[in-house]
Amino acid sequence: MTSVMLCYMSRMGHTARVARRISESITDAGGRCETMPINEAIYEGLNWDAADVVVVGAPVIYGTYHKDVFRFISENQAQLERKPNSFFNVSVVARNPEKATVEGNRYMQKFLELSPWRPKDLKVFAGKVDYPSWSWYDTLMIQLIMKMTKGPTDRSAVIDYTDWNQVRAYGQHVLTLA
Ligand SMILES: Cc1cc2nc3c(=O)[nH]c(=O)nc-3n(C[C@H](O)[C@H](O)[C@H](O)COP(=O)(O)O)c2cc1C
Repeated sequence: MTSVMLCYMSRMGHTARVARRISESITDAGGRCETMPINEAIYEGLNWDAADVVVVGAPVIYGTYHKDVFRFISENQAQLERKPNSFFNVSVVARNPEKATVEGNRYMQKFLELSPWRPKDLKVFAGKVDYPSWSWYDTLMIQLIMKMTKGPTDRSAVIDYTDWNQVRAYGQHVLTLA
C-alpha cells in the first residue's frame, strides 16, 4: 500500500480542508495518507521512512508564503528530495483559468524562485474568498488585490473557488508518483 505524507500550511483553514480532501481521495483509491500541519512537522518531526510520497501544500498570503513553509523545506530538503514529491499552492488569483496553471501562476513561479527544493510535481488550486472571516486590515488589502484583478470586493462575499473534483483527482495523481 502506498503511503503519502502530506504537510500543509493553512492560515484560515481552507488549505487544511484541501489537504483533508486529498487525503480522503488517496484513502478511497487504496492508499494511505498522513496529513500534518507544517508547524507540527517542524516541532514534532516526521517519520520519513514511512512515506513513499511526500506532498507539501501552502496558501498564498500577500503574494508569498508563510516563512515556516521555507523553514520546513530548508530543514528537510534532503529528505524531500529522496522521495517522489509534489507541491501545491492555493490562491484566489487562480480562480482565473490562465492563472490556474503552473506557468501562468506567478505565485508558483515565485515559490520556485524562493524554494531551495525543486518539487518533481506541481499543482495550482484556486482558494476561497471569505471577507466576513478576515480582519478589517486583511479585508481592505484583499479588496485592493481584488480590484486590481477584477474579483469580488463586496465585504459580505464568501466564495469558494476550489474545484473539488480537481482536488480529488490530484489525490489519485500523487499515488501514481510512487
Ligand atoms: C491575509 C490574506 C492575504 C492573501 N493574499 C493573497 C494574495 O496575495 N494573492 C492571492 O491570490 N490570494 C491571496 N489570499 C487568498 C488566499 O490564498 C485564499 O483565501 C486561501 O484559500 C487561504 O487559504 P487558508 O485558509 O488555508 O489560509 C489571501 C488571503 C488572506 C487571508
